[in-house]
Amino acid sequence: MYVCICHAVTDREIRAAVAGGAARLEDLTMTLGVGAGCGCCREAAVALIDERLVQIEESETSSIAA
Ligand code: FES
Repeated sequence: MYVCICHAVTDREIRAAVAGGAARLEDLTMTLGVGAGCGCCREAAVALIDERLVQIEESETSSIAA
């Protein structure tokens, strides 16, 4: 699904960027252009960043506990 229409960026691309180290909207803006146009996508992009960071953290916690 497209999150940023202005720069044709999908939720998959955002999740991959977060997995690759992006942790703030500014990181996505610099690498993918997310939020650099009309700005309508910023809230959704931040929500995706937060969601993906939680998933990564949970994954790391469960692998440490195993
Ligand atoms: S939809 Fe992302 S900047 Fe316009």
